[in-house]
Amino acid sequence: MTKTAFITGITGQDGAYLAELLLEKNYRVVGLQRRCSSSNTARIQHIIDEIELVYGDMGDASGLIRFISKIKPNEIYNLAAQSHVGVSFDAPEYTGNVDGLGTVRLLEAIRISGQENNTRFFQASTSELYGKTSIIPQDESTPFAPRSPYAVAKLYAYWITVNYREAYGMYACNGIMFNHESPLRGEDFVTHKITKAAAEIALGLKSSLTLGNLDACRDWGHAKDYMNGVWKMLQQEVADDYVLATGATRTVRDCVTLAFAYTGIKLKWVGAGVEEKGVDKNTGKILVSVDPKHFRPTEVDVLCGNAAKAAAQLNWKQQISFDEMIKEMVQSDLNNYGVTKKSVAA
Ligand code: NAP
Ligand code: GDD
Repeated sequence: MTKTAFITGITGQDGAYLAELLLEKNYRVVGLQRRCSSSNTARIQHIIDEIELVYGDMGDASGLIRFISKIKPNEIYNLAAQSHVGVSFDAPEYTGNVDGLGTVRLLEAIRISGQENNTRFFQASTSELYGKTSIIPQDESTPFAPRSPYAVAKLYAYWITVNYREAYGMYACNGIMFNHESPLRGEDFVTHKITKAAAEIALGLKSSLTLGNLDACRDWGHAKDYMNGVWKMLQQEVADDYVLATGATRTVRDCVTLAFAYTGIKLKWVGAGVEEKGVDKNTGKILVSVDPKHFRPTEVDVLCGNAAKAAAQLNWKQQISFDEMIKEMVQSDLNNYGVTKKSVAA
């Protein structure tokens, strides 16, 4: 029997990879799309004829109830969110509404449409929940200490998912996902900002890059691997919560050094704090500097996950390394300028 999946956030990075994966598995895929003044379907354009899209918004409960009642999906993946941590400080109420209350709207839509025993629910939870933790690495038992309006909204979403599982016996899972990236990553997240700038600087299209906190440490994996883990979470006998992570952490500075190296530019770092610069070893030109406008009011210093539970119970592990991923992203950014092959180091 063909299974039906409903994906909120299908137009985002993860939505695109998940939709592809589910089509490969012969699902009927229905996605929630926001109406925008310009097209937001670039990431799913290659599969647009194989999926169904409905217009809606996580702020609009009546639409969610109507879709769930009509579509009766076997699986719901709640990926929709205002997902930028920095932006959440500028739009805290909106972020709370979409990321926090949006989740309960969707869970209620399942109940109101009488689908609580027929539908499996995935919530895109986040390593940002760990926030100001001093425990390294973080796993499913690490206490949460959120440090942004985004993380606080996601904390509500995490617990309401657990609550609906316990209160109503729903098959509802949290994937506590550490950072995951790809060529489809939004350009305002740090990895893609870096790889795009490295490509543009190497091609002479841009002279320099400014960043915020170079010392922040993140556990970066590939979105394709993470969506595989997400699907596995909804195929178990019993619903549970799982960390997806690589177990390795790197600084933003490490990411910059690697991305530039792939374009053939060797950087050396001089100075400290807001005076720190990334200098081209060959030319002596300052290519990277710090601009405090990119600092966040509160920062999460170190994220590093332990995905042993997902490895043991889901047989999940990362396939694509950080180095491979950054190389793929830099190459994709070069390709966007018609450069099919650059002196990208092996
Ligand atoms: P993304 O690229 O920013 O995609 C977010 C998606 O949500 C987009 O499709 C966006 O639509 C949609 N959306 C935003 N506001 C909405 C609203 N009010 N109503 C309906 N849809 C709305 O994010 P992502 O990287 O794919 O992440 C997917 C999910 O995983 C998010 O919930 C994120 O918080 C969570 N997460 C991500 C990571 C990560 O490292 N990527 C880690 C942990 C958790 P538009 O295309 O129209 O903007
Ligand atoms: N975006 C951005 N831009 N971040 C910068 C910059 C910059 O110019 N300079 C330094 N950073 C630092 C941020 O302060 C943060 O410490 C780190 O780079 C990563 O920032 P992002 O790439 O914006 O991701 P994030 O870790 O804040 O959030 C992402 O991962 C979470 C999971 O841990 C998002 O995808 C969230 O939705 C997700 O939940």
